[in-house]
Amino acid sequence: MRIEQGWQPSEIERLVDIENATASRLIFTDETLFRLELQRIFARTWLYIGHESEIPKNGDYVTRKMGNDPVILVRDQAGRVRVLLNSCTHRATLVCRADAGNARGFTCPYHGWVFASDGALVATAEDETYGGKVNFRSLDLPQARVGSYAGLVFATWNHDAPPLDEHLGDARWYLDIMFGHTPKGMTVLGLPHRWSPTNNWKLGPMNFAADGPHAVKVHGPIVDATLVGGNGARAMIHKALLESPSVTAGPYNGIWTQGPAEMPEWMGHEPELVELYRKTLKPAQFNLFRRCIASVGTVFPNFSWVYGPVSFDMRTDPLVNFFAIRVWQPVSAGRTEIWNWFLIEEEASEEVKQRAMRAGVRTFTAGGTFDQDDAEAWHSIQRGCEGEISCTQDVNFQVALNYRDRPIADWAGPGVAYPSNYCEVTEFNNLVQWRAYMTGAR
Ligand code: FES
Ligand code: FE
Repeated sequence: MRIEQGWQPSEIERLVDIENATASRLIFTDETLFRLELQRIFARTWLYIGHESEIPKNGDYVTRKMGNDPVILVRDQAGRVRVLLNSCTHRATLVCRADAGNARGFTCPYHGWVFASDGALVATAEDETYGGKVNFRSLDLPQARVGSYAGLVFATWNHDAPPLDEHLGDARWYLDIMFGHTPKGMTVLGLPHRWSPTNNWKLGPMNFAADGPHAVKVHGPIVDATLVGGNGARAMIHKALLESPSVTAGPYNGIWTQGPAEMPEWMGHEPELVELYRKTLKPAQFNLFRRCIASVGTVFPNFSWVYGPVSFDMRTDPLVNFFAIRVWQPVSAGRTEIWNWFLIEEEASEEVKQRAMRAGVRTFTAGGTFDQDDAEAWHSIQRGCEGEISCTQDVNFQVALNYRDRPIADWAGPGVAYPSNYCEVTEFNNLVQWRAYMTGAR
């Protein structure tokens, strides 16, 4: 049974004004809209769950969330990846309390029902007390549909949703560049970092979809002070952002910031790996990657990545690239839980793996320089949306009016690209997709 909330589709439509490129601030604060998001987005579309390298062996598992539902991502005893609802079919207890581990199955701590790693109920504590009246097969753990692309495992509760490949569509071309650029693919470094900022879950995916204009403003001081080069770095990055492409392709929106022509190619990459990229990627993908100094993107609704070369002191600390993926978990209208992982090519040297992890931790985690900048801004957006008067106002994406009708004509990849990371088209597209799910148009 499900209780529908009191928003009409026409009212939700008005919350995101496509023609004017604005949106009501209520989308960040209204708790009834938040409950609808859980139903209409998180219970209906494909959600990122984890990376295959986190569960390499049969019986390996990690516990995750799909919206507000706890789930277990597990490789069962036959090697098949499954996503099980982490809620006992007896009296709803979490059957798995650990963050990660390896097990043949899960024993519920309340009355001892036992579930195999494929979700099948294999024993109750007192089978004979049921007197043969109960079909135990109907009490297996519910399972989501599972799909995997470039090592990224997604799941959905919607059995009518298109297959994952079809859902990702043109986004796959860009996922290939980030996560499928060597034959062995990426591997996750360590455990996820988790923290819980006081802002709506959509602010992160929007920013990563991507908000070019904030970069030199919010992060300018750290760029000037420590990162990649001191004097002139901020101006260089501003110019690069201004002139680099933003892309929308299927559920993906993001930016591919290109370094200036005088900058060396493949900064921070091991030359042996570059040869693997050349063999693995298509020429147009290889070319987009070769001078990329930042790729930031979101796959709707709540999966994002950030990639780029980092050095905190060019004299002693050579540039290294880090790859971070993150999930923005909805907790309430005003609270999010961020899960953040670092990845690296399986073929990278141990030394580069270590340096990439350090670079990532210093930039994009709860204590990272960039995340601290962003968290303060997002907290302040939330406060700026909550008042009786402020909640009646809009948020504004009207740079998009200047760019949305003039995409790059000869763009070499799929989807549509715009000629600036400042275009706001892709960031706003994230909300256009939100509107489509929330009104039932998708
Ligand atoms: Fe799980 Fe009773 S709640 S065995
Ligand atoms: Fe930022």
